[in-house]
Amino acid sequence: MTIYKELNSGDKIPVIGLGTFGSDTYSNDEVAQAVKFAIKNSYRHIDCASVYGNEKEIGRVIYELISEGTVKREELWITSKVWNDMHGEGDLIASCKQTLSDLQLDYLNLYLVHWPFPNYHAPGCDVSSRNPDSKPYNHENYMVAWQQMEQLVEMGLVRNIGSSNMTIPKMKFLLRDAKIKPAVNEMEIHPHFQQTELYQFMLENNVQPIGYSPIGSPGRPERDKTTDDTVDIEDPVIVEIAKRLNVHPAVVCIKWGVQRGHIVIPFSVKPNKIKSNLEAVLNDPILPEEMERITKIDKNCRLIKGQVFLWVSAESWQDLWDLNGEITT
Ligand SMILES: NC(=O)c1ccc[n+]([C@@H]2O[C@H](COP(=O)([O-])OP(=O)(O)OC[C@H]3O[C@@H](n4cnc5c(N)ncnc54)[C@H](OP(=O)(O)O)[C@@H]3O)[C@@H](O)[C@H]2O)c1
Repeated sequence: MTIYKELNSGDKIPVIGLGTFGSDTYSNDEVAQAVKFAIKNSYRHIDCASVYGNEKEIGRVIYELISEGTVKREELWITSKVWNDMHGEGDLIASCKQTLSDLQLDYLNLYLVHWPFPNYHAPGCDVSSRNPDSKPYNHENYMVAWQQMEQLVEMGLVRNIGSSNMTIPKMKFLLRDAKIKPAVNEMEIHPHFQQTELYQFMLENNVQPIGYSPIGSPGRPERDKTTDDTVDIEDPVIVEIAKRLNVHPAVVCIKWGVQRGHIVIPFSVKPNKIKSNLEAVLNDPILPEEMERITKIDKNCRLIKGQVFLWVSAESWQDLWDLNGEITT
């Protein structure tokens, strides 16, 4: 059984998808094998991105599963994202075509602008390094990217378009100027980082939130961790609910996300974890009073800070997130 949410386009997106960012830990083939296992075990939604570097391997697996009749293309929801160095005129469409070729598909269900900055950084570079060419958000440039996203819909290559890592002020501009409004915003959401104001803003504007790092990304690279970071799966409230349900605390984070009303895209390459995350959505809901308790453990703890996208004159990673309600320039 697949549970869906309806988007502003009328399309239905499965509420749980498999994340595919293997970080530094897992090879492209390991992630592709995880996708294969997930689809064979009833996942219908896969969250990809060109920058994850594994779309070719994932494409081979999807092709194999469709060819052998395990799943039909129309049963799958495939998302991908354009990377920051491909926002320019012509580049974005070329990048989407490359993704389609790598994934061996003739359309994507959803295509996202991965970050609102055209700021490139070398994969795996130190978090304190700054690219001298990096710039703060520029709405005119973002719209050059967005208009190509709209063209992709008109060309029939993409069914839905959306944003990722946006803030309220940036989103206001996009909603004002977009011919095709974003169907989703993919953003970091887990119990210790609930982003309630941004979340409500998205819902009020009919933009579906997709929560990335729904477990609090315990496997993220060491270079992305700071001493202030908190650990969702060690939170006493999460652990207590997990004990009652006899599940791993990660499963409680997944349940909370879906019951709150967003889409979750947990990552794992481990068969037992992949299975238990899907079962989390189908079985044993969290009780209303437990949902209430989780609401109260929000620690405003952003884990994916985005330091590598900072421009030279920026003061700190907070500049990426428009904390005073205005776009930081
Ligand atoms: N739009 C964006 O900018 C953006 C940014 C970040 C992430 N994402 C997307 O979101 C996806 C998920 O985020 P994420 O990978 O950062 O974090 P996550 O899903 O919160 O955490 C993944 C980690 O949780 C562990 N895990 C998964 N299920 C578990 C279970 N049932 N029990 C115990 N541990 C479990 C995994 O362990 P194992 O390693 O042992 O499998 C893995 O290390 C990514 O893969 C990517 O597709 C998007």
